[in-house]
Amino acid sequence: MEIFDPKAIHDIEHGVIEGKDVICAKKYFHEVAYLYENANIEGDPVVYTVYSYTQQDEHVKGNLQWGLTILEPLYIHDECNMTKGHFHVDRDCAEFYFGIEGEGLLLLMDEDGHTYAQKVFKGSLHHIDGHVAHRLVNTGKVPLKVGACWPTTAGHDYEAIEQREFGYRIFKRQETLIFEKR
Ligand SMILES: [Fe+2]
Repeated sequence: MEIFDPKAIHDIEHGVIEGKDVICAKKYFHEVAYLYENANIEGDPVVYTVYSYTQQDEHVKGNLQWGLTILEPLYIHDECNMTKGHFHVDRDCAEFYFGIEGEGLLLLMDEDGHTYAQKVFKGSLHHIDGHVAHRLVNTGKVPLKVGACWPTTAGHDYEAIEQREFGYRIFKRQETLIFEKR
């Protein structure tokens, strides 16, 4: 029997996925500045890094994608760093998130705009229904690292979020989280 090395390695200790077919994309502040109440800052830091990996045709239903998001511990005039957030274009496609390092919130919003959250921490596991929009928020002092697995055909519907944002902004002031209703 032949034994092969895996085609990719999720290096949990160093917060990277390595392998020939792994894609790494960095998101800079200027690309997501519109998300923040007050986006007037100096510089253009990396706000989050997303690794993604698949071995199959992404257009074939049932194929899977593996991912890792690293959300930096940035506070933009006290507003917690967040991902853009999305629904899935194919609302029938669910997703798993799992916390690897750091602390944060998984902000969730149903199609009626009802917004709620789950705590994210090392070992937390989150099943996300495709009809629920999802956004990660770093509420801690270290990078928030979250793994994910989802169908390649799910697609990212960012437009729905631009038309109706999540119901709350999240700030941290004097170590206290503040949820500001939009
Ligand atoms: Fe998703």
